[in-house]
Amino acid sequence: MLTSSLLAASMKEKPLSSLCTPALVVDVDKVKRNALRMIERCQKLGVQLRPHMKTHKTLECADIMTGGSRRCIVVSTLAEACFYADHGFDDILYAYSLPLDKVERCADLSERLDLFQILLDHPHALDELKKRPLRDGRLWHVWLKLDCGNGRAGVLHSQPEAISLAQAIVGTKGVELTGVYVHCGNSYNCRGVEQIQAVAQETTDLTLQFMEKLKASGITCKSSIGSTPSCSHPVKDMGKLSEVHPGNYGFYDVQQSVIGSCTLEEVAVKVLTRVIGHCPHRNQLLIDCGWCGLSQDGAGKLPTGYAVIEGHPDLKLLSMTQEHGRVEPISGPLDYSKFPLGFLLTLIPYHSCATAVMHPVYHVHSEGRLLGKWIPTRGW
Ligand SMILES: Cc1ncc(COP(=O)(O)O)c(C=O)c1O
Repeated sequence: MLTSSLLAASMKEKPLSSLCTPALVVDVDKVKRNALRMIERCQKLGVQLRPHMKTHKTLECADIMTGGSRRCIVVSTLAEACFYADHGFDDILYAYSLPLDKVERCADLSERLDLFQILLDHPHALDELKKRPLRDGRLWHVWLKLDCGNGRAGVLHSQPEAISLAQAIVGTKGVELTGVYVHCGNSYNCRGVEQIQAVAQETTDLTLQFMEKLKASGITCKSSIGSTPSCSHPVKDMGKLSEVHPGNYGFYDVQQSVIGSCTLEEVAVKVLTRVIGHCPHRNQLLIDCGWCGLSQDGAGKLPTGYAVIEGHPDLKLLSMTQEHGRVEPISGPLDYSKFPLGFLLTLIPYHSCATAVMHPVYHVHSEGRLLGKWIPTRGW
């Protein structure tokens, strides 16, 4: 597997405890299981899986999530798009409302790949495409971003502007309306399968109703919805869509386990940290992981604070500064003899996307034996 196989020889047989901390570690067996389960789920539903790369931004994980095809992916940045294009990936959807400063870079990718796709939700973006026709008779492949209740980017599904923008895309020379893209990020407010499936059903219904409206005006194209919660517990009607586009599920995280997308055991990514100080006057430990090694997402509101500390449900990550974390017992006095200086603790992150992005290297292991490193791409 690419770089990891080269690095494997030098790292062979080393345990996780040989790493300097803080270190992001990835359990490759869990990633493979999570990815395979999503592939099987989508096959059973009869819907095309287009996995999002935003959580890991690595070639190796992309290979696992695409089943080795290196086709049909979503990215959140042009840096990711170029990284994957440079390494032989194709059929890439840049699912971010077209930023006007990046049209030329999108044109370049559209002219070099078999299928580079962009997304827009504003007529001004379409005007910019008109000003930059692609060479050799190539088409801009455009997805219309629709908001079906997420309340972030996209034209609201109920607004007449949504249909008129679709019509304008179809009516523009050199541009093709490839599909309608809906991200159900509102599934992150859910707790439990029932609520997740209610959001999945509502988003599916609204998207399919919009597709019917398009059809009535003579337009047919693809449809895609998704998020890790909704695709971890899909509803049958999602099989009527063309594609789904979850991404976080390769790694999962504590947030997903709280929502009900996965169990804590399925989380594939952790941060190793060491005890670097004893503070008996505050009944606390200091660890070498601060907010440069673990995201502050979740605002410390878990019963265990900013993370779950594996194997120590009685401990709480109370607060972090840049390179320090403060750990205290949930109740009672701390037994310092159990946590000598240098003692290794394993943090299960609240949000794996935000935590992974802080690490330039991911240490990959199987059953605690290091196999190699994955190097993610960065930037925009
Ligand atoms: C536009 C878009 N599509 C797809 C995804 C993937 O969703 P998830 O992270 O829930 O897997 C995201 C995640 O933020 C997104 O912003």
